[in-house]
Amino acid sequence: MILRLPLLVLKVILTSFVVWIVLSTTIPQAFVRFTEPQVQTNHYQKSTYPYNSITSPTPLPIQNSSVYFVIGHPDDEVMFFSPSLIEITKEKNGNEVHLVCFSNGDSLHESMGRIRGKELVNSARILGVDESRVTVLSSYKDGMNETWDSDKIKKSLSSIITKGTKPAVLVTFDENGVSNHPNHISLYYGTLNYFQSTGDKSSKLFILKSLNFWEKYSFTFLTNIELFVDHLSKLVVGNILNLDINISFFSKNSSSKSIRFYSDLNMLSVSYAAMSYGHFSQMVWFRYGWLILSRYLTFNHLIEVTR
Ligand SMILES: *[C@@H]1O[C@H](CO)[C@@H](O)[C@H](O)[C@H]1NC(C)=O
Ligand SMILES: *[C@@H]1O[C@H](CO)[C@@H](O)[C@H](O)[C@H]1NC(C)=O
Ligand SMILES: *[C@@H]1O[C@H](CO)[C@@H](O)[C@H](O)[C@H]1NC(C)=O
Ligand SMILES: *[C@@H]1O[C@H](CO)[C@@H](O)[C@H](O)[C@H]1NC(C)=O
Repeated sequence: MILRLPLLVLKVILTSFVVWIVLSTTIPQAFVRFTEPQVQTNHYQKSTYPYNSITSPTPLPIQNSSVYFVIGHPDDEVMFFSPSLIEITKEKNGNEVHLVCFSNGDSLHESMGRIRGKELVNSARILGVDESRVTVLSSYKDGMNETWDSDKIKKSLSSIITKGTKPAVLVTFDENGVSNHPNHISLYYGTLNYFQSTGDKSSKLFILKSLNFWEKYSFTFLTNIELFVDHLSKLVVGNILNLDINISFFSKNSSSKSIRFYSDLNMLSVSYAAMSYGHFSQMVWFRYGWLILSRYLTFNHLIEVTR
């Protein structure tokens, strides 16, 4: 009797997870297996395997760029940005991905800073970001009560972001900072400040849409509905009716102004590895629950900010 409710919840969660694997991973991979000529003939033209990206727009609007993920704490890159970070880092997109972390995560104790800075490098390695492209700043104090000065952030970013041959793309939090975390919100205003003041007109800024409480902990439920409607609309409208209209329940808006990233099982496994093995010090018991239920681990909605 007492066990019935938890068991029911567990069953619903497991079922949703299995449905998600089918929608996000099995269907797209079967699609590649049966439609991709390179795979069918076992003759490959490119040096990258034709891995599916059916769950993110193809081609990705962020390509051949220097992408800077501007984060507040070591582990933000996994906990909030992993679907977009992993997709953008994929070799076929030709991006050069950097992580700029504004604190070393020493809010509990100063001695933690060294450990967490190193953990960020370990996590970056798992995510495919080279150590030389990871910057951890220590002049910003990590904490729930700390607001960081926007002009100071602008100055820090100008000294880190060098004008190279590739256009710069900045990715950071939105004005709600995922959970109203003042460090994240400061980064939004500081990065926006930098973006608006930079003379580099080829640069772009994307912000991560904060999800409300129910959406944040919706596990794979909402994603399943979106992917299901998306597969169905592509199948029915594209193949059966052969029409060129874009219907989607949630108006999947994949112009370059707004990009939705969905992880598949392979990408989610990388996120779990980066978090649990890279950021070992952060894996207290409740984190496991958060990692399993959080929608940010399988879904990112990046919105482009126009000047
Ligand atoms: C990115 O670079 C590759 C290789 O140079 C090129 O084939 C591709 O068209 C480029 N993509 C974009 C969007 O510029
Ligand atoms: C943050 O500020 C609140 C209210 O001023 C205070 O109660 C709390 O102890 C502070 N927390 C930290 C970590 O300093
Ligand atoms: C549907 O979306 C595709 C890709 O985003 C676009 O090329 C096409 O023009 C759209 N069709 C309509 C009718 O809006
Ligand atoms: C897509 O998003 C952009 C920017 O957020 C917006 O301007 C545009 O109206 C949206 N298009 C649709 C069809 O919702």
